[in-house]
Amino acid sequence: MRLLVTGGAGMIGRRVVAQWRALGGDVAVLDNLSSGLPMPAQASLAVEGDLCDEDTLHRLMRTFRPHAILHLAAIHHIPTCENQRAQCLNVNVVGTERLLAAATEFNVARVALASSGAVYAWQENALDEQHSPLLPCDNYALSKYCNEQQLRFWSSQGRQRIGRAARIFNAVGHDDPNAHLIPEILSQLKQSSSGRVRLGNLTPRRDYLHADDIAAGLVALVQDSRETQAFDALNFCSGVEHSVAQLVQALADVLERTVQIEVDPARVRSVDRISQLGNPERTLAVLGWQPRMSFRQALHRVVFPDVLA
Ligand SMILES: NC(=O)c1ccc[n+]([C@@H]2O[C@H](COP(=O)([O-])OP(=O)(O)OC[C@H]3O[C@@H](n4cnc5c(N)ncnc54)[C@H](O)[C@@H]3O)[C@@H](O)[C@H]2O)c1
Repeated sequence: MRLLVTGGAGMIGRRVVAQWRALGGDVAVLDNLSSGLPMPAQASLAVEGDLCDEDTLHRLMRTFRPHAILHLAAIHHIPTCENQRAQCLNVNVVGTERLLAAATEFNVARVALASSGAVYAWQENALDEQHSPLLPCDNYALSKYCNEQQLRFWSSQGRQRIGRAARIFNAVGHDDPNAHLIPEILSQLKQSSSGRVRLGNLTPRRDYLHADDIAAGLVALVQDSRETQAFDALNFCSGVEHSVAQLVQALADVLERTVQIEVDPARVRSVDRISQLGNPERTLAVLGWQPRMSFRQALHRVVFPDVLA
């Protein structure tokens, strides 16, 4: 199967590209390289260009003729999505619409995309696809919620179309180009001989999983052929959550360092989601996929990416 991966140079996309090639498939990448990571060397075809540029997109579709599309290109940094609201919606929502229109024009019947665990309403129990309400509470989450509905609609518009959305929870990787918590902690620790880190809210809990595991799940998702279900959205999560304080301590253990946490009032968010825990059971039942790495193994791979567990 020829697979087009938009955002294929990103932290998750580059791992999908490597895994798809390792399985013997052809894979093209469309990425504007805005995240700062280079094109993955394994791509069969690499196009540096913007998702929103129709000419580039159509040229790529004509040349490569993909059987399936995995859509990962997005503005993903949450503060950027808040500060540049229209630009976020333009790339994440209008860009997705252009891609779906191109899929229609070039007869691509299978599209999977990255949604987020952030589409769920804020609640403290494990979020599951069939019972937990959806209620995006920021612009990024809103864009991902729209993407799911866009794909649901697209899947219903033609016979034999398959649309799949991965509700990805918190991805970790050594090459995360976005200003997430783990890169921040590691960078502070690098600069502090005493092991002091200054952070904001310490109690929010998140469900962390490694980008290698997510990529393996996305490879399975693209190939999911259940004909009874034109559209489906599945959680990509571990089913275990850790607070910020626990995350810092676990990183300290991996690094074999003592770490002191100080609360920096300037970083404290007045409103923060206290928990974002996913229920992985349905994804396991449907795709036969669940993360292979534990929390500790995932952090170990972030800190020592070249050491095999
Ligand atoms: N990392 C996470 O924790 C997480 C969680 C939930 C959902 N997701 C989603 O998964 C997908 C991949 O995430 P990631 O962590 O690899 O992010 P990333 O930022 O590393 O990768 C996104 C890629 O998209 C590219 N891109 C951005 N705008 C583009 C545009 N207009 N045209 C072409 N390319 C463009 C960037 O250059 C980057 O390479 C994203 O859609 C993200 O929103 C990620």
